[in-house]
Amino acid sequence: MRLLQQLTKKNPFGGNYLPSRVSLLARNRVSLPFPHLWNYREPIRILDAYFQSVDDLDRSGKHNRYLDVPFFPAVLVTRDPTVIKPILLDTGDKPGQFDRDTLPTDGIARATGEDSLLYSNGEQWRMQKKLAAPSFGKTKLFQPEKFAEFEQTFRKTAADRLEVLREQQAEAQASITPLELEPEISAIMLEMLVNNFFGGSVSYEDIQQRYVPSLTLMIDHMVTDTIAHRIQAPLNFLSGKTKRLNKAQNDFETLTDIALAGRKKGLGMWSQFKSEATDDQLRSNIRVFLAGALEATTSFAGWTFTHLARSPEVQEAIYNEVESVDIYDPDNLAQASNLLQALQETLRLTPSLYFLPRRATIDTTVKIDDEHELIIPKGTHVLLDVWHANRCEDIWGEAVSGYPATQFAPQRWQVLKDKGYSAKDLMHFGFGFGPRTCPGTSLGMLEVGLVVGAFVKMFRFSADGESVSPRAGVSTKPSDGVTINIEVREPYQ
Ligand code: HEM
Repeated sequence: MRLLQQLTKKNPFGGNYLPSRVSLLARNRVSLPFPHLWNYREPIRILDAYFQSVDDLDRSGKHNRYLDVPFFPAVLVTRDPTVIKPILLDTGDKPGQFDRDTLPTDGIARATGEDSLLYSNGEQWRMQKKLAAPSFGKTKLFQPEKFAEFEQTFRKTAADRLEVLREQQAEAQASITPLELEPEISAIMLEMLVNNFFGGSVSYEDIQQRYVPSLTLMIDHMVTDTIAHRIQAPLNFLSGKTKRLNKAQNDFETLTDIALAGRKKGLGMWSQFKSEATDDQLRSNIRVFLAGALEATTSFAGWTFTHLARSPEVQEAIYNEVESVDIYDPDNLAQASNLLQALQETLRLTPSLYFLPRRATIDTTVKIDDEHELIIPKGTHVLLDVWHANRCEDIWGEAVSGYPATQFAPQRWQVLKDKGYSAKDLMHFGFGFGPRTCPGTSLGMLEVGLVVGAFVKMFRFSADGESVSPRAGVSTKPSDGVTINIEVREPYQ
């Protein structure tokens, strides 16, 4: 039946809010609509392929597209928030709810372990969530005493590193110096996580020269391993990459040991961690937190710098706001509206996690509104395409927010607020939504807010070109490595 349906191109979805079909082969398409060895490094182009030539379709067909190839389960790609939101809300461990699709992340699982919060589903996910997620939550992190402790150490880490940059610039004896900022951002982010959050004491040189390169190689390997698992090993062996990967894997394990070692002494966030779980039961999660947090915070901060470098007015507005702020306590952060809007806008326009994968565990009805529903057949791979949802003119464009959807315009958040939109009406899903929302939201916002605030306070920066294209792997990053020209605001004494 199913094969016949596929051969006759019958729409496998039900209800009155139907996705439209994407053909496997089409002329003048930016990419084939599935990953293969030649296009997997450009996943956003693969998603682009789903939304080419859709302007004449009705709303459901224009924003919801499917691929249905004989012998394979259907793939639904949606950039429609009215579909994305109920699916995120209905993802979890209750019977019939969506799972997180493990297919696009099996390279991550091979490197971190299958029982982590990120990879597992069902009972195991629930257990890991109870165990590990609260440590990062607002209630734990934002307790006045604990928050002050983290904020102070985070702030000191950021200030020390930025001071080094400032000294380097003074030595260069140039008022404006070009700089590739991404390696600096990664090192600051990893240092905050390993030393301040997990209570480690790794030297900055080791963080910068040993652990960041190793984790970066591991993260890159996770992407390739997802697509080319079987053929990768011989290719790596022939090219000599196996040796580098083994070293990176060892460094990853050592860093995981260092993060776990603080537990016995109650250092960093471990002082708040109450659980009977053995260290071994926590290992996969710690690996995911280390690699995932490094990747996501570097992406988020990198994009923020990329956008601000091209928006001098926004940069100055943030400077005026943070100039007199020395302590980033929750009140001060909440009042830094220009900084917060710039962070929101960054996550909207250039979300770190550009698609969220789901899988229907049974035939599932998704309620769109009082009159519309979409029935998704069991086994369908669902890609919630946050990248394209957030760039869709119908959803975020001038008519709604006063600015084109593809423009970096933090002011749009004020327009939306003035028009009476609440946070729940318009969602960019930058940290996900629903039961599998990001447990690191508060920590990530604090880290990125602090680093961006401290940087703007110390430097004025600009960049060439109107925009930068994304390079996407586990997350998206600016393809130029965040290349900016920096100028110290106050001349170095
Ligand atoms: C600041 C930048 C960050 C961004 C933009 C971000 C984004 C996200 C998003 C969008 C999801 C949802 C994925 C989905 O629904 O499929 C997610 C989940 C997750 N994030 Fe983050 N994240 C960030 C920081 C962090 C940090 C700092 C940690 C931990 C230390 C973390 C750990 C996780 C984990 C473990 C999950 C899986 C949760 C689950 O499935 O229950 N993230 N993140």
